[in-house]
Amino acid sequence: MTISRFTVIGAGVIGLSCAWRAAAGGFDVTVLDPAPATGASWVAGGMLAPVTEAWPGEEALLELGVASLHRWPGFAAELTAAAGRPAGLRTEGTVVVATGAGDRAELDTLAGYLAALGRDVERLGGRELRRLEPALGPEVRGGLSVPGDLAVDNRLLLAALRAAAERAGARFVERSAIGVLEDGGQVVGVATDGGDVAADHVLICAGARSGALRPELAGLIRPIKGEILRLAHRAGAFPAPTRTVRALVDGRPVYAVPRDGGGLVIGATQYETGFDTDVTVGGVRDLLRDAERVLPGIAEYTLVESAAGVRPGSPDNLPLIGALGPAGLLVATGHHRNGILLAPITAEAVLALLQGHPVPDAVPAADPSRFAKEVAHAGVDQR
Ligand code: GLY
Repeated sequence: MTISRFTVIGAGVIGLSCAWRAAAGGFDVTVLDPAPATGASWVAGGMLAPVTEAWPGEEALLELGVASLHRWPGFAAELTAAAGRPAGLRTEGTVVVATGAGDRAELDTLAGYLAALGRDVERLGGRELRRLEPALGPEVRGGLSVPGDLAVDNRLLLAALRAAAERAGARFVERSAIGVLEDGGQVVGVATDGGDVAADHVLICAGARSGALRPELAGLIRPIKGEILRLAHRAGAFPAPTRTVRALVDGRPVYAVPRDGGGLVIGATQYETGFDTDVTVGGVRDLLRDAERVLPGIAEYTLVESAAGVRPGSPDNLPLIGALGPAGLLVATGHHRNGILLAPITAEAVLALLQGHPVPDAVPAADPSRFAKEVAHAGVDQR
């Protein structure tokens, strides 16, 4: 029996997860990326937060996110075993907190919306929140406990995914993909800056850069910059929260994701300024100002890193997961703020598509064919 050659373009969390699952599923996997695991997935905070990221009108995204969150504990356990190193999952849950009256009104709206959808959310006052998380400061007046929204140390995760993919037989080639090669309506490989790589199946999962690889994606995937800070606890400083803290501070969102060892990741700004990965003074100022109002003790922490990444946005904030163009071509991009959360269900869907099986229930809503009109305008046939 011939083993199918599967080439994955992009070694972020989506590419690594798909490469691991496909290699473990018997495919001959090659991963192309000039700098594996250094893009948005490396910068990320690692929230697994479909409920606290929910937004009215984005119910398909909530359903996809909840379906992926349910898979996370099993995914992390299998990954830890396959990689021989921790996947970095944290199961302490999330609190969402508000400072001013306007922020509290906004959280009330979110709580009502989530309750109407039957989500597990508990409203708490400032004192109750401080009993749960003593690190929360006196400006916090109310909020929600969402125990089901989890977090993962994204850097432990990426290292585990690469190790598991390599142990399953995936090869990593540090080259840039230039385009997909096709012949007679069938994918035959990928052109790279170091020569062609033959393939029977190709997956485009190059994050915000995916749009450069196919005309169908050019108008659909756009870069959305985010800046993030990493803080380390210092001896004598107030201990960090154990749960993820999401906050609204005078209408501005900020989050703090705990790390083992007492560190915190503070994020994230959001701008549409193209492929810009400079960290700005204003971005750092806004994050620190708002985070300190919620968690005053961080003033004593060390600021160890500031970084910016570029999220892959899509027109409706849902990813694009499915077949595109010639036979054998798949896409998994446009995960925007949810790449880490959606990695397990995306990898399961991609393996199902490779094997000719049905995708999980929540995934058809993310099929790229929902943009058939835009794809037709790109002058390319839609399968
Ligand atoms: N997942 C949160 C963010 O992208 O900032």
